[in-house]
This record gives sequence, structure tokens and C-alpha cells, in this order.
Amino acid sequence: MSNPTQVHAIEALLSEERRFPPPPEVTAQANAQPGIHARAEADPLAFWQSWALQLEWFKPPEQILEWNEPFARWFADGELNASVNALDRHVQAGRAATVAFYFEGEPGDRWTVTYGQLLDDVCRFANGLRALGVKKGDRVAIYLPMIVELPIAMLACARIGAAHSVIFGGFSADSIVDRVNDSQCVALITADAGWRRGKPVPLKANVDEAFTKGMPSLQTVIVARRVGTPVDLVAGRDRWWDDVVRDQPSICEPERMNAEDLLFLLYTSGTTAKPKGIMHTTGGYLTGVTATHKLVFDLKATADVFWCTADIGWVTGHSYIVYGPLCNGATSVLYEGSPDYPAFDRFWEIVERYRVTILYTAPTAIRTFMKWGAEWPNKHDLSSLRLLGSVGEPINPEAWMWYRDVIGKGRCPVLDTWWQTETGSIMIAPLPGITTLKPGSATQPFPGIGVDIVNEAGATVAPPGGGYIVLTRPWPAMLRGIYGDPERYEQTYWSRFPHRYLAGDGCSRDTDGDYWFLGRIDDVMNISGHRISTAEVESALVAHPAVAEAAVVGKIDDVTGHAVCAFVSVRGDAVGSPELGKELREHVGRRLGKFTAPKYVTFTQELPKTRSGKIMRRLLRDIAEGRMLGDTTTLADSGVVAELQARAKAEAAKEE
Ligand code: WTA
Repeated sequence: MSNPTQVHAIEALLSEERRFPPPPEVTAQANAQPGIHARAEADPLAFWQSWALQLEWFKPPEQILEWNEPFARWFADGELNASVNALDRHVQAGRAATVAFYFEGEPGDRWTVTYGQLLDDVCRFANGLRALGVKKGDRVAIYLPMIVELPIAMLACARIGAAHSVIFGGFSADSIVDRVNDSQCVALITADAGWRRGKPVPLKANVDEAFTKGMPSLQTVIVARRVGTPVDLVAGRDRWWDDVVRDQPSICEPERMNAEDLLFLLYTSGTTAKPKGIMHTTGGYLTGVTATHKLVFDLKATADVFWCTADIGWVTGHSYIVYGPLCNGATSVLYEGSPDYPAFDRFWEIVERYRVTILYTAPTAIRTFMKWGAEWPNKHDLSSLRLLGSVGEPINPEAWMWYRDVIGKGRCPVLDTWWQTETGSIMIAPLPGITTLKPGSATQPFPGIGVDIVNEAGATVAPPGGGYIVLTRPWPAMLRGIYGDPERYEQTYWSRFPHRYLAGDGCSRDTDGDYWFLGRIDDVMNISGHRISTAEVESALVAHPAVAEAAVVGKIDDVTGHAVCAFVSVRGDAVGSPELGKELREHVGRRLGKFTAPKYVTFTQELPKTRSGKIMRRLLRDIAEGRMLGDTTTLADSGVVAELQARAKAEAAKEE
């Protein structure tokens, strides 16, 4: 790792000496049994098969893995339906009255949804979709706030064999257009608006704007009522959710799906401006999320209240709000809004109200809570908590300790879980009752997962040492490819190091074999746990008439992980003014979504380039971080650097 921040991070982390062995009372009742790692390692296929067979199948699989590198098929002769596994199974087992979700709307409206009700709602909506002509094999876009209609819509698609493609509600019109068109969605499900910090987020209006840019495959738009804001319905195309379900029966025959049929697409950012449609199929994905949810979170379906605070628009919500918890028959909290509305203790009020036992959140949230101060959680009874999870970015030891001490009162194991949209389920994490914890480390690979750390040449880096993290064998919930682009799939993940999956993260391994994550090694930024590529923001910037060229880098930020930092050269007679900076921030926010708007905009006459004309991103990153510069002799015009440095410094000083 040549990046100085990473070298520094490795040194700091490897000198971390605190150890937290599993408390005996956790071990005594844990789902994970001693020796589980070794047993899975001795026969990973048998391990996964035993988890797959715990699902409900129309036709149980006899095959386990077909590996035609890099294309995997798991349990490929089996047939099942994801919604049956999430719902019918529990209802048939007499658990219809068990709460599936405690819903809490941001304005304070609350209701509980049982497995029985959820099954009825899913069936009625699935019948409604069928009546509108949506059929097995179609793709359906879902652009909803965090309301119960979101899991209902996903499971209804699964029931009739249509793949869903959820678009995060924070994305704007252009992102909707790209996603809908890439996979030719036939229907889109949205709401009038959602609540965020007391204000309506106008989802239907964003969809209307997206239509002006062309989404020819879309036949149908279904609009749930959430906020009550007025919306325009286009006759013949748009209809209210209530009308779609009104006369539908609450019984809906599920499609028999092959284990390898597409369950969903989820678009994620890579190194180019075009997001990748990550494909997940039914049998392997459900196997992975069920096993990890049960073992990493030690889930006891009849006793736990599980709360994953992620948005369902990202993979964490797919796997650990919808499919994992529901397949395990768990009771979860579903919260619509923001942690600071109406006050800084909203999360802790929710934990207290529902007696949450397992909390799963992100380091950026934890760092924000630290900033707000311990008095907010301390106002509430958090004694129901027994496990604390973290995901989305590296968790620094200080945040880990604060989470353990202030939220968990020193009683609750902290579980740092590393995984990706592509991996589908958790790959590296401690198991409660088994793993000794270290603040800042994700510790050990999940049973059955093969992991290595390699150097530039692809050779294993012996511990202690850092390098690229790679996955060395297929796993059930792995992505099956990039929608419509098998070459990009091979190229992105399987070409840098033959026979190994390149995750794109830097990671270090200590002498105990524990893993310490260091952040991305590519041009993907992680803003408050949201993944976005520098190229996406750059292409949004250059679409503005005043911008000639733009280069974007992620600047390390104490709270959000990365902050978007843009270097911009303007066209002809445009002037790089504070007003233009503001306009560009708004412009990017409108095109991509507010969370992607640059925090820093630095204007320059020219961007620093090598003699062959490539923008020198490493240099820009160093400038953004205010670090000393190394050798810049390959620059076309080294005067550019001095100017950039001075301006970036001024900009950062202004913002802070
Ligand atoms: C980062 C989110 C360090 C990482 C589940 C990864 C993490 C990217 C961790 C995937 C963690 C996620 N420690 N880094 N515990 N969890 N990441 O696809 O850079 O939204 O590659 O999936 O988030 O982001 P994605």
C-alpha cells in the first residue's frame, strides 16, 4: 500500500492491543457452536448445502455448486420462491401473529405488521401486479421511502417471479433513468413523497422528471400514498397503490422459481460513470443471508427485536431488513426517517420503545452520535440491547469503543461486518460466543468463505501485512454477474488476480489472522456509507454548461468517511466564483442525489495532468488532504499544482 494514509492507518491499527474475549453467558447460548469455522473449512460445500436445505423448497436441490469460473450456479436443480421462504413458511408454522415489522414513520406514526398481514398484503399486491401484466422474468423498479410498502413490493415481485430493482430514495431523476433503461423495467413503484427531517421528499415528481428524459420500457407506474402531497397521474400509465390492490384476493399462487432465477438487481458504483446492475439469484442468495443473519447476529426468532438502520435502497437493507430477517422469522424495526428528527435521541427512543435487542448501524452514524454527545443515549433505557453491529466502512477503534461503552454499556459484543453489494451477504465478521474482539477489526472470515491478502504481484502477503483483499472461492450469495455485461463482470472482479475475486478494498492481516480494513483502493468514494464513484460525480459536473473539465476525489472526513472534493476548470468566459460553486453543488445534487454534492469545489485554470494527458488523481488526493507532495515532475505544467494547493487550502479553511 503506497498511499500514506493507509500506511499510517495500518501502523495505528496494528498497535491496537485491547482484546475482548466472548463473555461466558454469550457463549453458553450462542447459535454458533465451537469449531464451526474448522468444520466449514474442511468441507465448505457441505456447510452451505446444510444451510440451503433449511430453506423451504418446492424441489430440494441435489446439486451444490457448478463452477465455470467466474460464473457460479448454486443449487441449480432446486426450485423455490423467496416470498414463501420469507412469509408462508412462518404462517404455516403457526406464527401468523408474530410481528414482522414494527414500523415507525418519521412524523411519529406507528403500526405493527404481523407475518399474517404481510403475507396478505404481499399476495394482494402480487395479484395486482399480475393483473397489470407484470410477469415472470420481467424487471420492476421500486423507488419508495422506508415504508412497509417497500418490502411488500419487493416480496410481491419475488412471488410472481419478476426481478426487483430498488432505487435508493435519495437518488434523483437521472439515476432513475439510467437504472430503468439499463434493465428495461416494465413497471415502477413509487410514492407521492417520503418524510425526511420533517420535509417531504418528492419522489413522484422525480419520476415525472425522469419520464421527460425517456423511459420507453415503462408501461405502468404505481403510486403509494405516504405524505398526501398532490401528484399528477398520467391516465393509462399511473395509478394509486390502493386501486391496484382494492379487489384483489389475499391468496396468490407463488411462481416456482429455479434457484438460479434472478431475484433482484441492485445498481452499485464502480470506477466508471455507469453504475453496474449487480445480479443476485434466488437459492444461493437466500442461503447466504439466512446463514449469516442467524450466526453473526445470533438471532433467536422468538426473543429478539432486530433493527438494521440502513436504507432498503442499499444492499444492507435488502439482506438484513428484508430477506435475512424475514427468512429467519425475525421481528424487525423499520424506521422511515433521520436520526436527528425531531431530536438527537430519535434512535435511542426507538431502541427503548421496541426493546431492540440487536442494533446494526454504520460507523458514520456512530461518529455522528459521538459528536452529539453521550447525553442523548443516556436519556434512554438501552438495557434491552445485547449485540451491536457495524457495516459500511472501516470503524475506527475510538468509534468502536464508544459504541461498546456508551451504547452497549460495556456488555454487548460489537460486530464489525465487512461485505459488499456484490457479495450479497456478510463475508468477514466475528461470531458471538466464539470470536475474541479487537476494536477496529472485522476479525475472521465467515465459515466457508475463502479470503486472502495479496500484493501487486498477486502473491499472498504473510501476516502481519497489508495489501489487496481477495476472495478465493465461490460462495452462495455471490453476484452472478453484471446485468447485460458479462465481460465487465470478468474484467472488474476476476482479471486483476486470476482465479480470485478482487473486492477493491485494502486490508491488513495481523498475526492472529484477524482482518483490518483500510478503505477502497479504487476511485469509489464512501460517503456516510453510501457508495459512489468519482467518475459519476465528474460526469454530472461536466454536464453543467460552465464546466470544461472536472476531477473528483474523496477527501477523508471525520464524520462521513469521505467528503466529495471537486477540482473544476471553467469554460471560456465563465467565472469560478462562490456562486458558481454553490450552483455546481446544487446541480450535482439534482442530477445524482443530494448526498453526492461536492463539499469542496476548487476552481482552477487547468487540472494537473501527466505528459500523456491523464489527470493526476493521486496528486489531487494529496492536495485535498493537505499533504506534502511527492515527485511531480511528470506534470505538464507544475505551476498548476502550486495554484491548486493554495486554492484547495483556502476552500477547506472556509468550510471548516
Ligand atoms: C466498504 C455495503 C470496512 C468497503 C455492505 C466495501 C467496509 C464497500 C465495511 C461496499 C466494513 C463495507 N469495514 N469497509 N465493515 N463494510 N465496507 O456495496 O469499501 O454499499 O467494498 O455494501 O463498503 O459497499 P456496498
